[in-house]
Amino acid sequence: MLVTAGGTREPIDPVRYIGNRSSGRMGFALAEAAHRRGATVTVVAANVSLPRTAGIDYVDVVSAAELAEACDRRFDACDVLIMAAAVADYRPETAHGGKLKKDQTGEELNLRLVRTTDVLSSLADRRRPGQLLVGFAAEHGAGALDYGRGKLERKKLDAVVVNDVSGAGVGFDATDNEVWIVTADGEHHVPRASKDAVAASILDTVLSQSSSTDTKVR
Ligand code: CTP
Repeated sequence: MLVTAGGTREPIDPVRYIGNRSSGRMGFALAEAAHRRGATVTVVAANVSLPRTAGIDYVDVVSAAELAEACDRRFDACDVLIMAAAVADYRPETAHGGKLKKDQTGEELNLRLVRTTDVLSSLADRRRPGQLLVGFAAEHGAGALDYGRGKLERKKLDAVVVNDVSGAGVGFDATDNEVWIVTADGEHHVPRASKDAVAASILDTVLSQSSSTDTKVR
């Protein structure tokens, strides 16, 4: 199983970046739950400062480009890919070589952002039969579930885990989560619980999807 976790950082200069509030807890909880069930697990960890579990292989990355490269190298060997990381959709077009100084930039600083590669979509395009692909959709407020259904189709996934990050105490940088797992069969609601308990529910749903394929992880 290949799991991505955390949030990418896109450099502006050597000391500044554009990032997000993902802690990596959900991805790490999924990896630990799969490891306990006997899976061989690799975690591509983007800026995660959480304790690590012996027996899980961790690959540390910083930016979306590094995460893409790490996943690209390991994807063919995995049966299940869970993209729990919050990957930047945009990065500064140029990362300045030296620290930007106010006397160089003046009263305004305009950053031009360009799109990053959609890692999950590009891996989905070259998936082999039997591989199971799970995406996350961190949405804010009304319409979260509709966005999730759209992502399932658009990114050609087996499941999308939707979390509405507008609620207090769940989602980004929180210990609890409440999610909807969207598959071709419909939606399964997982009420608010610890990320460990939510991880177990996600694996139950996702791995039952795999029973119709060759996937070996149970
Ligand atoms: N993702 C990815 N590469 C990116 C951005 C996102 O692989 N550059 C993955 C995330 O890890 C997540 C899924 O795609 O599993 C959904 O990401 P998100 O950005 O929410 O979806 P988008 O379809 O890009 O839609 P939008 O940002 O417009 O909501």
